[in-house]
Amino acid sequence: LASTDVDLSPIEVGQRVTVTWRGKPVFIDRRPEDAIEQARKVDVAELRDPQSDEERVQKPEWLILVGVCTHLGCVPLGQGSGDNRGEWGGWFCPCHGSHYDTSGRIRKGPAPRNLEVPTYSFLDDATVRIG
Ligand code: FES
Repeated sequence: LASTDVDLSPIEVGQRVTVTWRGKPVFIDRRPEDAIEQARKVDVAELRDPQSDEERVQKPEWLILVGVCTHLGCVPLGQGSGDNRGEWGGWFCPCHGSHYDTSGRIRKGPAPRNLEVPTYSFLDDATVRIG
């Protein structure tokens, strides 16, 4: 399937959901206000892969990421119950210890790049098309 449509209406604030797109996990994170603020107050110049949060989302509440570590391709932890989100409250890759922030940007560990943002578009307020 070239694209995947996701119904966002059951996803609550603070909830993270994983869907599959082209055989890869895609993380959909309905971010609470504090996670958005945390992502936006960062000095972009200090980042390994400098990108503002604004460049990485279309709507601040919805962060959408390919759930594949940019080091060697493990699936980072952080979905689900909220354990193991790493030191920046985003995702943590247990394979070699990469920490990602609440924008999915690499902050510590061997991964060279931020978690990838897939191509996506909102079909309406409650539906996103990935791909
Ligand atoms: Fe994620 Fe190595 S694959 S840190």
